[in-house]
Amino acid sequence: MIMMIYFRGKNKLFSSICFHKSNRLDFTIFAFSFLKNMIYVSRQEHFNAAHKLYNPAWSKEKNFEVFGPCANENWHGHNFELIVTVKGTPDPDTGFVVDLKKLSTLIRAEVIEQLDHKNLNVDVPFMKGKMASTETLAKEIWKILEPKIQPITRFGKLHSVKLYETPRNYVEYFGE
Ligand code: NI
Repeated sequence: MIMMIYFRGKNKLFSSICFHKSNRLDFTIFAFSFLKNMIYVSRQEHFNAAHKLYNPAWSKEKNFEVFGPCANENWHGHNFELIVTVKGTPDPDTGFVVDLKKLSTLIRAEVIEQLDHKNLNVDVPFMKGKMASTETLAKEIWKILEPKIQPITRFGKLHSVKLYETPRNYVEYFGE
């Protein structure tokens, strides 16, 4: 397990351990640096978007019964707060699990640009044909970000996407 992480990181310590096998102290220090060292790093971003929740298979009455004001025919808006969490051990070169500037730039370019001031039902290609619920949106955001986070972190991976639709209503997705 430890060696696996080691190989992935191509850490400079790798050469010291592999080529000086007698140096057990180095190895012990290295091994323990991965224990009790799991950190969760989060970045919050904001966007506004409109939507409506409406099941076309149901009557207007049933839609209003289930979705309430969210079924309003001419849309309504929300101030969304998106919190993206990366889980990992700090990179020994920087002390960072992930550079938050890089994470912010990534979230803005790949997600916020596509959602901010848009109508989720009609303007956003990755929401086409899907229920414009916060649950669906959180899952789609995960699908976009998960493969793109790997290149900006050596020892981290996407842990969760948390999406606030209102200050009191939010969903979380862990890729499960
Ligand atoms: Ni709504």
